[in-house]
Amino acid sequence: MVNDRENYRSPRGIRDILPEEGVLWRHLEATAARLARLRGYREIRPALLEETRLFTRSVGEVTDIVQKEMFTLQKGKNSISLRPEGTAGIVRAYLEAGYAKTAPVQRFYHTGPMFRYERPAKGRERMFTQFDIEALGSLDPRLDAEVVHIAASFFEALGLRGLEIRINSMGDGEDRDRYREALRTFIAPTIERHCDLCKERFQRNVMRVLDCKNQQCQELHEGAPPILEFLSPENSEHFESVQLALRELGRRVVVDPGIVRGLDYYTRTVFELHLPSLGPRSALCGGGRYDHLIQELGGPDLGAVGCAVGFSPTLIALDETGIELGLVGESAQVYVAALGEGQAQDVFSVAETLRQAGFSAIYDVEDRRTLKSQLKAAGKGGHRFCVLVGGEEKERGNVQLKDLDASEQHELTLEEVVDFLGKQSRV
Ligand code: HAM
Repeated sequence: MVNDRENYRSPRGIRDILPEEGVLWRHLEATAARLARLRGYREIRPALLEETRLFTRSVGEVTDIVQKEMFTLQKGKNSISLRPEGTAGIVRAYLEAGYAKTAPVQRFYHTGPMFRYERPAKGRERMFTQFDIEALGSLDPRLDAEVVHIAASFFEALGLRGLEIRINSMGDGEDRDRYREALRTFIAPTIERHCDLCKERFQRNVMRVLDCKNQQCQELHEGAPPILEFLSPENSEHFESVQLALRELGRRVVVDPGIVRGLDYYTRTVFELHLPSLGPRSALCGGGRYDHLIQELGGPDLGAVGCAVGFSPTLIALDETGIELGLVGESAQVYVAALGEGQAQDVFSVAETLRQAGFSAIYDVEDRRTLKSQLKAAGKGGHRFCVLVGGEEKERGNVQLKDLDASEQHELTLEEVVDFLGKQSRV
């Protein structure tokens, strides 16, 4: 007979989060939610799919994300894409829900998957999770500081130290135009000695040339005019106020004119959080202001600022800096085993009694014959307690409670077991 069974693997750059890692992921999500909610940010869960034109309009037609990295589906006449980032969908949802009219200042957070068809590498995946923090509807520089502070607090809560907050202003409108011109004039004489990506960026969006990681290009950029010298008085003052607010929050920042983010919607403040020990791909978080996006997408002229933390780069940072979060896995607390044969029904109902009382419990469904093999399975599964049902104990109306960690065993009634477990932690 022909063996037509094939092996299936997840697509390249896309991976599963298995139960063994679940506890860690939930810890990241819970930490993110706690820190955001502490500052009045409310959870939003925007759509996973959006019309493609939303991203073309917001992220930008000539950005890497839109040109090369979107997972796009054509359904009839509609082109829809899996979200490559969260901000565009959040602004779309904000407008569609009418907040811009009813309550324009909104603080939102979200954690969930994003999709980019990038070349997979360490910490770069095609499906990845971001923690998004977005403050919409205001130009107040304190909000810029607030979102940076939430992101930085997130890493600190996980135990990461040595994070660098790199901040810049990308200007806006006229001052940015003047800067682009000056930068073009500076780079033009050496453009032939730049890498292909820089040559392309020189044509498409000259500020992005400064983001090149190639050492030769970086050397050519030494002495490039810094954008901060081109800012209008108003934009300069905003930038100063952001830094002041960050200082008030106890945050030290590095002003880095090389932070020129790759999404078109940014205006004024931009920032990245880096762990320098991770090398050139050290950004764990990126964000900034996007003061025109609400209007670009059909709403009023309101400011906004936000950022997104990548979970995979965060996990790599934890791993490489040797931080153990000491989280306990999530095996059921109790493994119910049979003392002898013919106990299947009792095992089943004892497990349900424990569950009703609020304790997670499982039982053997592999028909293990001996108690020894059941106890071995319980130990391997990481369960703390074993409740043994049947035997003479049953005739006495009791069960055995075995503490697998302490290697202790006591004969108790089921009510006493519930009482005892109640003094432990509940699910
Ligand atoms: P971004 O810089 O494209 O910004 O992404 C933010 C963070 O997401 C990065 O610093 C990185 O940690 C993580 N990240 C990005 N791409 C990947 C990937 N392929 N695999 C794993 N992690 C990745 C944004 O997405 C903006 N929407 C941020 C923002 C929010 N700006 C304003 N509001």
